[in-house]
Amino acid sequence: MPIIAKAITQDLSNVLMLLKQVDLPIEGVKDHFQNFFISKEDKMILGCIGIEIYGRVGLLRSLAVHPSFQGRGLGQQLVKRIEEFSIEKGISNIYLLTETAEKFFLKLGYQFIPRDEADPNIKQSIEFTSLCPSAPVMTKNINFF
Ligand SMILES: CC(C)(COP(=O)(O)OP(=O)(O)OC[C@H]1O[C@@H](n2cnc3c(N)ncnc32)[C@H](O)[C@@H]1OP(=O)(O)O)[C@@H](O)C(=O)NCCC(=O)NCCS
Repeated sequence: MPIIAKAITQDLSNVLMLLKQVDLPIEGVKDHFQNFFISKEDKMILGCIGIEIYGRVGLLRSLAVHPSFQGRGLGQQLVKRIEEFSIEKGISNIYLLTETAEKFFLKLGYQFIPRDEADPNIKQSIEFTSLCPSAPVMTKNINFF
């Protein structure tokens, strides 16, 4: 399994390219890039994931695995890494919006909630208000202690 590492500024353009390739929004990625992880082989980005932090809650976003590398467990590993990072950052609940990977996230312990029950900070994010205005909302409590 390729190594997952914190993204650095030089990775930004390749991450944006991968997101476009899998049809995910790129708006706001730059603003939260300090909370992104990537998996890289030579110069090619195989996968990425990020989290927008709003106090004790986080919005998981930009989970992408390069099409030629999907189905080998990398997506799952990226989610695990961002959950560990979120715990380190004191986040208790992760939210996400998705129209393409609901079953993937159900397997990883995420549950659907009605949109109006999302945390107020999450409701103000651009994903919620404009990028994915009708996507189902999922959440997971990661505060085990
Ligand atoms: C969703 C995505 C990141 C999964 O990455 P991946 O590396 O292929 O996933 P994994 O190999 O870790 O898959 C883990 C499991 O989820 C399943 N799975 C993968 N993608 C899935 C999807 N879109 N829907 C349902 N199940 C999916 C796999 O079959 C696998 O099941 P198994 O453990 O029973 O074999 C990848 O398909 C992708 O980049 N999709 C396009 C972008 C996207 O939709 N991102 C999510 C936006 S929030």
